[in-house]
Amino acid sequence: MRHLLTLEDWSQEQMAEAVTTARAIKAEPHKVADVLRRKTLAMVFEKPSLRTRLSFEAGMNQMGGHAIYYDTSTSPFGAGKETIADTVRTMCRYVDIIMARLFKHEDILEMARHATVPVINALTNFSHPGQILADLQTIEEHKGHLAGLKLAYFGDSFNNVTHSLLFACPKMGLHLSIACPSGNAYKPDPRALAAAQTHAAHHQVQLDVTQDAATAAREADVVYTDSWMSYHIPKEQAGERMTLFAPYRVTGELMALAKSDAIFLNCLPAQRGMEQTAKVIDGPQSVVFDQAENRMHMHKALLYLLLKEAGSLQE
Ligand code: CP
Ligand code: NVA
Repeated sequence: MRHLLTLEDWSQEQMAEAVTTARAIKAEPHKVADVLRRKTLAMVFEKPSLRTRLSFEAGMNQMGGHAIYYDTSTSPFGAGKETIADTVRTMCRYVDIIMARLFKHEDILEMARHATVPVINALTNFSHPGQILADLQTIEEHKGHLAGLKLAYFGDSFNNVTHSLLFACPKMGLHLSIACPSGNAYKPDPRALAAAQTHAAHHQVQLDVTQDAATAAREADVVYTDSWMSYHIPKEQAGERMTLFAPYRVTGELMALAKSDAIFLNCLPAQRGMEQTAKVIDGPQSVVFDQAENRMHMHKALLYLLLKEAGSLQE
């Protein structure tokens, strides 16, 4: 059973296939209008969402299937009355595929261990693989290719988006520069970094983590930032984080160090004046709403590919 838990588990070919499929579905959505007829997706949420929830639900609907939103705060699991194992084994009796947005990464691994249907990680504290697959699609659409481009990432780097970029970029032939503060709570997880270093050496691409934002920005084709206050970060850390991450704010000056045709990405939600200025996110180089749109095309591709591989689409 193939799941999408982290991009560490997916090969270059599998990621490329997802991007190609998402682009084909985006170009000709009518061709898949019926392929998930009478299929059901369970969407398990422990955290808030706009894009992920709506794009999965709309995508499922557009392919003839149905999605059930399941908020764990109203579930026996959320109330501490049922284990993940029993929850998942029950769900698999009702639905064809599961996506889950959870706090602990171990919990999505536990889900997958007990699932008899594909499981998609729709964000854990550690990893956000579907986001980065959709971002690869966005980059390819705007740049025409992926290999050889330089992606520069700024800000909170001990997070799901950074780890997924680390797993994906070197394998896909992109150079990756990460600019962040030095503390263990802000720089990438050593395991994700080590995996990325292995792939970077294999694919002969550059990979660096620096405390100097200007170094990372130079000659970048893609400038990427993410929230300084991820969903799981306690509000009390806000003040400290604003100060620590301020040197990594994406400003017009930082964008000017990148290539003149660089694109700006933020997975959203965004705070103007924090991880980037309003001028950058609302400016001509920003493609953040193409990026948000592509979540839906990518989710449709993932639902289709995983269900096909699971043998669920044979009538
Ligand atoms: N980028 C992203 O996952 O957005 P949501 O939190 O709104 O789903
Ligand atoms: N790193 C962010 C991504 C939001 C889509 C978070 O975890 O909240």
